[in-house]
Amino acid sequence: MFLTPVLFGLCCLIGVFGESVMEGDSVTLNTELTEIHGEKEIMWKFGAEKTMIAEISGVYGICYTFDVPDGRFRDRLKLDNQTGSLTITNTTTEHAGLYEVEITGVKLSTKEFSSKKVSHSVSVYARLPMPNLTKYSSQNLSSSSSQQNCSLVCSVVNVGHVTLSWYKGNSLLSSISVSDLIISLSLPLEVEYQDKNTYSCVINNPISNQTKHLDICEHCWLCPDQGLPLLYIVLISASAGSLLIVAAVVMCCICKKCRKNDRQGKCFLLLLSK
Ligand SMILES: *[C@@H]1O[C@H](CO)[C@@H](O)[C@H](O)[C@H]1NC(C)=O
Ligand SMILES: *[C@@H]1O[C@H](CO)[C@@H](O)[C@H](O)[C@H]1NC(C)=O
Ligand SMILES: *[C@@H]1O[C@H](CO)[C@@H](O)[C@H](O)[C@H]1NC(C)=O
Ligand SMILES: *[C@@H]1O[C@H](CO)[C@@H](O)[C@H](O)[C@H]1NC(C)=O
Ligand SMILES: *[C@@H]1O[C@H](CO)[C@@H](O)[C@H](O)[C@H]1NC(C)=O
Ligand SMILES: *[C@@H]1O[C@H](CO)[C@@H](O)[C@H](O)[C@H]1NC(C)=O
Repeated sequence: MFLTPVLFGLCCLIGVFGESVMEGDSVTLNTELTEIHGEKEIMWKFGAEKTMIAEISGVYGICYTFDVPDGRFRDRLKLDNQTGSLTITNTTTEHAGLYEVEITGVKLSTKEFSSKKVSHSVSVYARLPMPNLTKYSSQNLSSSSSQQNCSLVCSVVNVGHVTLSWYKGNSLLSSISVSDLIISLSLPLEVEYQDKNTYSCVINNPISNQTKHLDICEHCWLCPDQGLPLLYIVLISASAGSLLIVAAVVMCCICKKCRKNDRQGKCFLLLLSK
């Protein structure tokens, strides 16, 4: 650390990388440096305050991770003592931000001391909720209400940095985007009576999406083939009924035969053998 970059004027930012991760997942930030060998000094810093969160010192043989004062990295940092890469496990939106790594060591090619910096801009995206479809009726209920369009609204609650869209088949019908955290986001759709197209409401952020397909029979109007299960029930009970009648007739005949035979034991055997 006595070889400060400022002193030598050799330090330079060699790259800015962007990483995206879904909340709860891990993200590994690499040092991106292969040039510096030997007794390296590696320091990871976080945020605008550049709080040190990890350090490897080849000279002193140490490999440490530190937490920031608010404790957001507690049990979440893993430092690879060979490559110097830093892994943040079980991320939350609090771990989004700028991570900077500075490496100081001997450059193998020139045998000179050298110091370099790499920045990683980490974005953490929340897991997306499934959109909710609700039917609403804007028109008055009239005698021809069953012939009316179906008015729906697709909605999500507590989201940020998302786009909500309606698709008809594969083509985009409408969409709305928000960048801030928002309590409720909704997008309407009107489906004409007996429209046979497939509609879906999609919520997405830059790394994931959730799709809710519109089931017209469930959300808009009863479809003709929804009557089918009822028909089956009627058919099944009808056939069950006729089976009972047949059984009753058979039993009757057997009983008559039994009475003719006049002996209970024999009759029982006859019944069993049938
Ligand atoms: C590096 O880490 C591994 C396991 O995490 C450990 O076994 C090894 O002793 C460490 N090496 C040094 C030089 O700290
Ligand atoms: C991940 O972090 C959340 C709190 O942010 C905690 O409730 C959960 O138990 C953690 N999961 C794991 C596997 O550590
Ligand atoms: C979906 O909307 C209905 C009607 O407004 C509501 O009762 C239900 O709780 C909502 N579900 C979700 C997951 O938001
Ligand atoms: C719908 O209802 C409102 C008041 O309830 C009434 O003023 C309007 O005329 C009605 N529209 C139709 C088309 O019946
Ligand atoms: C039904 O929807 C279609 C297309 O969305 C629209 O052109 C038409 O005006 C609507 N009809 C009524 C009665 O709202
Ligand atoms: C949703 O994500 C999947 C991959 O996870 C992708 O194949 C699909 O195109 C995405 N859909 C939309 C509408 O963005």
